Parts: sequence; structure tokens; C-alpha cells
Amino acid sequence: MADSRSEAGTPDSSSDGEGGIRARIAVLPGDGVGPEVVAAGLQVLQAAMRLDRTLKLEFDELPWNSNYYRAHGRMMPEDGLDRLREYDAIYLGAVGDPALPFHVPVWGLILPIRQAFDQYVNLRPVRLLHGVRGVLRDAVAPDIDMLVVRENTEGEYAGKGDLLFPGTPRETALQTAVYSRHGVERVVRYAFELARKEGRPLASVSKANALNYSGVFWDRIVDEISFDYPDVPAETLLVDAAALYMVTQPQRFGIIVAPNLYGDILTDLGAGIAGGMGLAASANLNPEGTAPSMFEPIHGSAPDIAGKGMANPLAAIWAAAMMLGHLGRPDWEERIVGAIESVVERGACLTRDLGGTAGTAEVTQAVAAALSEAV
Ligand code: NAD
Ligand code: IPM
Ligand code: MN
Repeated sequence: MADSRSEAGTPDSSSDGEGGIRARIAVLPGDGVGPEVVAAGLQVLQAAMRLDRTLKLEFDELPWNSNYYRAHGRMMPEDGLDRLREYDAIYLGAVGDPALPFHVPVWGLILPIRQAFDQYVNLRPVRLLHGVRGVLRDAVAPDIDMLVVRENTEGEYAGKGDLLFPGTPRETALQTAVYSRHGVERVVRYAFELARKEGRPLASVSKANALNYSGVFWDRIVDEISFDYPDVPAETLLVDAAALYMVTQPQRFGIIVAPNLYGDILTDLGAGIAGGMGLAASANLNPEGTAPSMFEPIHGSAPDIAGKGMANPLAAIWAAAMMLGHLGRPDWEERIVGAIESVVERGACLTRDLGGTAGTAEVTQAVAAALSEAV
């Protein structure tokens, strides 16, 4: 089993030298199922703190969501980023409101945080846990076990572009993808380091046949950096073929490094083959620790199931586990992911998306209970 630890260099938080950590966490529950799954993650973290007094986490909940937008005309206060910068980490649910255009909550909160805090690695485990009946007929754990390193600050998400001749028959949208040497090098190097540390192969995903500037540039930088890692088996795949192989040959993959948009799409595909959106977690990492990192499930606000107590909390709980790994307690990351896996493997308490009938609260309690058993 691959080690999916999100450990990333210097922890932001302070350590007491005996493995104890003290950290202040900004909690952004967001919209829809966001508050429901974030409450679940916090409940599991509280259970961990009761079991281990050296874990000292403080949580400040910030109500910056679509309702806040309706009241204030913005998703967060003007000094929101400055305030978030003071924390050791950020724990986010999801934003998105059916009454608002898609881009408003996203460009008002998530993308400014990822960019301003140089969270240039978006680390996303795609792992079929023991006991999950995936959609691929023959795949069982550990056939599906990859870590996607998604570039998280530029590419197609740079927010650069224009709308020419608006409102006329000639109106034309331009969305400029930004690939800087600095931006590509740092994420590719991170991925090679991870592949070396885990002893796993690396696949770089791009689209250099059609994208004759950005795709060719990405591949060239990957080639250059690969010379520093002769011990890491590396391949370059076109993104369309990578999507195919994730389904037909998932065992082929260890570490995947991809530009922003491809990483986004491939990790929903990854969720699809590894048990669904309810299990897919994500860490937005600032590996140097110059600003807080942010931890979130990869799913959205799921308006279709919000408010019904039926959202699967496991992705958000897994994201909370990755936060502990990043803050310097990879042992607790493993324990919480282990508790998730034991709940899934027992199969007695699962939400509907995993074939069960349990609600969010029951599954959360089951994970907290499994955590105590494991001690
Ligand atoms: P979504 O991830 O919210 O939902 C996709 C499907 O997965 C839905 O059928 C939903 O019911 C299901 N699902 C999602 N989370 C689940 C969970 N925890 N348990 C069980 N089922 C779950 O994606 P969408 O419908 O495309 O987007 C809804 C809104 O969320 C949009 O406004 C979108 O922009 C936003 N969004 C936000 C984030 C984020 O904040 N990080 C991520 C993705 C989408
Ligand atoms: C994700 C989400 C976001 C993304 C949206 C909400 C901007 O889909 O975290 O995968 O595309 O990065
Ligand atoms: Mn996504």
C-alpha cells in the first residue's frame, strides 16, 4: 500500500519536540454538504485529541460562504486572506450555490486562497480501500493506488483572459493558460521527490500533441528534471490516453503529475474508480510552509443531497487526516485512514453512495469508534 502521507517538509505548526503539535486551524465549512462533512471531520479530530493529549488543535470557524456573499457582496471580508494567513492550516468543506453562477464562490474563496498562499501542489490519493466495491469489475485493493500531484496555481486556472465584443454577435471569450518555468518546475520536482521517497513510478500527463506551446513546454521541463532522478521510472502520457489507462490498467500508476485542469478532471475519474466522490480527499499544499496549506474533500457542495444528513463524510475525514500528516503527525494520518478503511471493510455502516443506508452522523461515529479500537 502506498504511503499517501501529505507530509511536506517543515510543518507549519509548532512541535513540543516529543511529537506533540499545537496548531490553529481556520475552518471554512462553506455551502451545501460542506458544513455537514466538515462537522464530521472535526468530530473525528476531537476524538483523536481525546485519545492523544499531545495533539492540541484549536479551531476557528469562519462563516465565509454563499450566504455571506448574499449579505456582503463578497465571499470573504476584504482582509480575509490576511486573516487566514495567520493560521497553521485551513480546513474547507466546499462552496457552490445553485442560485449563484458557478464561478462566483470559486473565484471569491477557493482559487484566491490556493494562489495567494502558493499552494502549488494539490495532492489527491486515488486508492481503492479494502472492502469498497469499485466500478471496475476485476479491480480490488491494492490494484488502484495512486497519488495525483496536481499543479494548483496556474495553467488553465490562472484567471487570465478577456471577453471581447461583449453582448455582440462577435463576442469572444479568451482564457489564457499560464505555464511558467517556475510553476512547472516546482510541482514536477515535488512529484519526482515523492516518487523517489515512495519507490513508485511517475507518470507525467500533458497534451503536447495539440497544445504546441504549453504542452510541449511542460514535457520539456519534465524531461530536464528527469535527469536528476535516474532511479525513478518515468513516462509521459497524453491526457486522453491517461484517462483510458486509469480505467483499463490502473495498476500501471503510482505517482501522477498533471497540469491544473487535467489534474482536476482525472481526480474525479479517480474518484469514480475508487469508490466515488464520498471517499476522495485532497490537500492543497504549500510545501515550503511559507503560508498555510488547505485540506478539503474534492467533491462540491452537492446541492442534490445537502441538508438531508446523507452525505458521505469519509472524504472530509480523510482530508482532515492529511492535515494532521502535514502538521507533523503522519502517525495520526495513518490511524484515521486506517479507521476509515476498517469501517468500509466491515460494511455495516455506510452511506447510500457506498451501498449502505446509514447517515452522515452514524458513519462519523463509526469512524471515531474505530479510532478508539485501534489504540
Ligand atoms: P459535486 O461534487 O457537488 O456533486 C457531484 C455528485 O457527487 C452529486 O451527485 C453529489 O450528490 C455526489 N456527492 C458529492 N459529494 C458527496 C458526498 N460527500 N457524499 C455522497 N455523494 C456526494 O459536484 P457538482 O454537482 O458538479 O457541483 C456542485 C457545486 O459544487 C457547484 O457549484 C460546483 O462549482 C461546486 N464545487 C465546489 C468544489 C469545492 O468547493 N471544492 C468542488 C467541486 C464542485
Ligand atoms: C476541485 C474543484 C475546484 C477545482 C473548483 C471548485 C474550482 O472542482 O477542487 O476539484 O476545479 O479545482
Ligand atoms: Mn474538481
